[in-house]
Amino acid sequence: MIPTEIKGFLFDLDGVLVDTAVFHFQAWRRLANSLGFDFTEKENEQLKGVSRVRSLQLILQWAGVEKSEAEQEELASQKNTWYLELVHQMKKGDTLPGAEEFLQRSRDLGYLIALGSASKNARLILEKTGILSYFDAIIDGNEVSKSKPDPEVFLKGAEALGLSPQQCLVFEDAQAGIDAALAGGMRAIGIGDLAHLHGGLTVVESLREVLL
Ligand code: BG6
Ligand code: MG
Repeated sequence: MIPTEIKGFLFDLDGVLVDTAVFHFQAWRRLANSLGFDFTEKENEQLKGVSRVRSLQLILQWAGVEKSEAEQEELASQKNTWYLELVHQMKKGDTLPGAEEFLQRSRDLGYLIALGSASKNARLILEKTGILSYFDAIIDGNEVSKSKPDPEVFLKGAEALGLSPQQCLVFEDAQAGIDAALAGGMRAIGIGDLAHLHGGLTVVESLREVLL
């Protein structure tokens, strides 16, 4: 199933390896509700893979609400506090179906492994769930200046592994992430719902369905 030229895997984090996409949604809704509005699960799809501040701007835009830069910073920080309350409840083994087995098998077969995530909380989550040691390189929200669908995060991941984009395969649950991978000249496998993801090599429900 994996083309022979592929030497490394670039994994998104939230929604691919761990179920934190749900926590992001809960924390953003809590913030929206505290401001007196709400947004839908369908709208939430557009927040996946997108940076914290860009997500907030989209939510405010949907509600037709304007906030100053300082207020936006405070709101993003409040959301992160609520998000981290949920993350702190995570423990070793709290990974999505098939994720840790897939990482282990990838290592055993000699594939290089990098993280390509927009999250600034990525390391904490990898540590808490016990999967940090599988990674040869970690590129997260602290290392990139451009949000997916810009390919920066994956290009940096490929570079950190010493591979060309053509030698990398990206695993993504967000359309912005699939678009980022394709823009970087990489192939991608979508994780999640076919209805939400287009342009990937293939879409599977979870890493359990990807055969190595
Ligand atoms: C991405 C998530 O992985 O990280 C987005 O899909 C999130 O929903 C982004 O906004 C930034 O995460 P954090 O943890 O830095 O707020
Ligand atoms: Mg994701």
